[in-house]
Amino acid sequence: VKRVGVFFAFFLVAVLAACGRSAEEVALVNESVLTSSAATRAAMPTAPTSEAATAEATAETAAAADAPTGDVARGETLFNTSFNTSAGQWICSNCHSTGTNRLIGPGMAGLAARAGTRVEGETAAQYIIHSITNPNDYIVPADAGGPYPSGLMPANYSDLLSEQDMNDLAAYLLTLQP
Ligand code: HEC
Repeated sequence: VKRVGVFFAFFLVAVLAACGRSAEEVALVNESVLTSSAATRAAMPTAPTSEAATAEATAETAAAADAPTGDVARGETLFNTSFNTSAGQWICSNCHSTGTNRLIGPGMAGLAARAGTRVEGETAAQYIIHSITNPNDYIVPADAGGPYPSGLMPANYSDLLSEQDMNDLAAYLLTLQP
């Protein structure tokens, strides 16, 4: 066995010498190959994951700017919740029906179809949120029941509702069909 081992070692040195490399050089090469493959392996899982996360975040930002990302069920609850507004204790649904009939304000059914056409440059969701935070910036045009006076809808909802609340309300209102 010993002799075979010695012969093998000799054979190896001979081969290495033939290749023009010392055993030390081979060891160095091996080490750097191992190190670089370890580095590749370490980099592999993180690189695609962080790229995917960035793409996801970009898509989310785009969606938030354009389409409502709200929770419809939560929006419905908020629409039927009483808030202590600047005009007193009011529920959205005290003034807005979910049908087409007018109460104090317009009925909300069909809002999805008209909201995006109300104010130039505003998407349906943006218009709805703007209508809640600053109702007097745009007054809904007169309908069969006559004109809507400005200042009727409470103007302090931005103090009472979070951004998420606004998104949820918009998502809910956009589902109401006539
Ligand atoms: C005291 C009554 C009142 C309350 C409470 C009220 N609104 Fe209004 N709202 C109005 C009136 C009146 C208008 C129409 C006049 C205007 O444009 O300001 C209106 C307009 C709107 C519009 C625009 C509708 C369209 O056809 O363009 C939206 C959206 C809206 N309200 C959402 C809400 C939401 C959501 C709430 C609850 C967070 C709410 N309102 C609470 C009276 C009210």
